[in-house]
Amino acid sequence: MSNLSLEIEKGIALLTINRPKALNALNSETLGELNACLAEIEKREDVRVVILTGSGEKSFVAGADISEMVNATPLEGSAMGLLAKEAFSRLEEMPQVTIAAVNGYALGGGCEIAMACDIRIAAENAKFAQPECGLGILPGFGGTQRLARLVGKGRAKELIFTCDMIDAQEAYRIGLANKVVPQAELMDYCKAMAGRILNNAPLGISLAKQAINTGYDTDLNSGLKLEANLFGLSFSTADKKEGMTAFLEKRKEKHFIGK
Ligand code: CAA
Repeated sequence: MSNLSLEIEKGIALLTINRPKALNALNSETLGELNACLAEIEKREDVRVVILTGSGEKSFVAGADISEMVNATPLEGSAMGLLAKEAFSRLEEMPQVTIAAVNGYALGGGCEIAMACDIRIAAENAKFAQPECGLGILPGFGGTQRLARLVGKGRAKELIFTCDMIDAQEAYRIGLANKVVPQAELMDYCKAMAGRILNNAPLGISLAKQAINTGYDTDLNSGLKLEANLFGLSFSTADKKEGMTAFLEKRKEKHFIGK
């Protein structure tokens, strides 16, 4: 992995996109590495939360790599979009919780990869935009779909058609960022949130994630039926017994085993 770094500690994987000379722009090689790395992480039961960030102080991910796209053919453009789709859908659907620690520019593909994460925490210097229409293209790594779902169709259209860059506070106001924190505190904040997630039952969380993701893209009634079934499935776990027994015994410490 020449464009990524991965550290795993106490249930948390810190995955860093590491192309600082190009402000962590995503070329095909990086997308391929990301997809392979996520495929490994999703199988690991010892990883419960993934924090995704970009190297350096200035940029999370400045988009897809324009120097690669400039001479790409339509077929190559589609191949890049499909590779990103595979990697970002994997990120969106993996059983672990994913947190984007947005430490600067999240532009184009950078905003799109952040939106494929479950939660987005923005440093005060974060900037979000979908600048593709200014480059003669359209968002191609999920922006037209995920941005509309996150902030509503009207705001998504405004951001995509104007290419306006918004700051962290505005991203928070419209629901694109979950929280804004001082830049120096970004990683500690994300790790503390990961710690609170780690206190809860792994299967309960991944089933809830599945119910939210699948239910969001279907009608309410189908979503509610899916939820009821997954709710029932969670009753088969040792963690359900442990969580409820701990409550009844008035015991604070719980020993979840992810089974
Ligand atoms: N692709 C390739 N290289 C990029 C890049 C990108 N998306 N973003 C930045 N870089 C490179 C620059 O070319 C520059 O390289 P050199 O030093 O070799 O010239 C280096 O990173 C530093 O960038 P700047 O000198 O431009 O830094 P700055 O501080 O003046 O500006 C910036 C920072 C505002 C982020 C500016 O770099 C910028 O506008 N970048 C492009 C952002 C963009 O348009 N992203 C969308 C790409 S299209 C897309 O993502 C399609 C999609 O849907 C997937």
